[in-house]
Amino acid sequence: MRSPAMQVSPAMQVSPITFDTFSQMQDDACQERIVAAKAKLGKRLVILGHHYQRDDVIRHADFTGDSLKLSRQAADSEAEYIVFCGVHFMAEVADILSRPEQISILPDLSAGCSMADMASLAKVERAWRELKTVLDPDQSVTPVTYINSAADLKAFCGEHGGIVCTSSNATRILDWSFAQREKVLFFPDQNLGRWSGFKMGIPLDEMVLWDYDQPMGGLTPEQIRKARIILWKGLCSVHQMFQPQHIENFRAQHPDGLVISHPECSFEVCQLSDYVGSTEYIIKTIAESKPGTHWLVGTELNLVNRLANRFKPEGKTVQFMSSTVCMCSTMARIDPQHLAWVLENLVAGKVVNRTTVPPQEAELARLSLQRMLDAS
Ligand code: 13P
Ligand code: SF4
Repeated sequence: MRSPAMQVSPAMQVSPITFDTFSQMQDDACQERIVAAKAKLGKRLVILGHHYQRDDVIRHADFTGDSLKLSRQAADSEAEYIVFCGVHFMAEVADILSRPEQISILPDLSAGCSMADMASLAKVERAWRELKTVLDPDQSVTPVTYINSAADLKAFCGEHGGIVCTSSNATRILDWSFAQREKVLFFPDQNLGRWSGFKMGIPLDEMVLWDYDQPMGGLTPEQIRKARIILWKGLCSVHQMFQPQHIENFRAQHPDGLVISHPECSFEVCQLSDYVGSTEYIIKTIAESKPGTHWLVGTELNLVNRLANRFKPEGKTVQFMSSTVCMCSTMARIDPQHLAWVLENLVAGKVVNRTTVPPQEAELARLSLQRMLDAS
């Protein structure tokens, strides 16, 4: 059994410091207090930061990365407190993969992921039941959940012989999945599923879209029988903003320019891009490119702005794909005020915003995450 937050230390008897003290605090003051609290906590604390995090927060991260890299970091961490500057599912993964006595904290519990919210356990279980009217899913369908999903969906995959994937290992995970069973149910991101299937040579008409608001996903038994991948009708509200037209305009103006996109972008955008990959892959690819290269990048704005600043001195131009602002607004809820607040509470021996996954759910979710770590 995981110990509840209130039993962590005798100092827990005292009430936590409320957020009110921090909500109106100036950014500069927060920065100083974060640095001071980090110094006091030393090795008892690790701060993990996703690449989409804002500059004034990510500068405090001990490790930055994409979802796969940060999952590994959480699993390997020795720290007592894992403060995740990311979104809710990431803090859940940290709780699942860390030891029971470690504590995973999300500085603002309202930092969710709109794509993850597009699949719920009730709807996935209903899909599984409906698939049973056409075939035996436990014999012929591997459920694959993108890591951008709630812990109960990872547990569903653990229980039904399935697996988790991230944007950096999706094709490898699909290979693993097809080695188990002939079909895949992929949720919640249709774009990552379609692009990964396409790269493996699966024809588009063998990847069907499961509309979770319709009976039988809006599909006929014939379509289900023929499908290799059944794609959940979910997507990322940030990455859907990038359009083929943005790439066409860029190519017209910069014929020698290069285009790189995240696989959460639409299939058409991925097809028109020179490179497609996770945030870590995008950073590495631009870092390894020749000086003078002009890049168009289809992913979240905080990361793209950071890349533009970082690579300017090397003579590389990094341009954002959309003309409108596309930020992950939920990730941005982790601000210096919330970070300072959770850290000062830890210094005072109090835990706020702990993220815990119930033990039985965690055990099954760990199974599907471990299959992913072993297969990647
Ligand atoms: P990666 O950083 O794993 O590429 O994922 C992007 C993302 O959307 C995180 O939610
Ligand atoms: Fe979720 Fe999209 Fe934000 Fe990633 S960028 S955390 S998929 S809403």
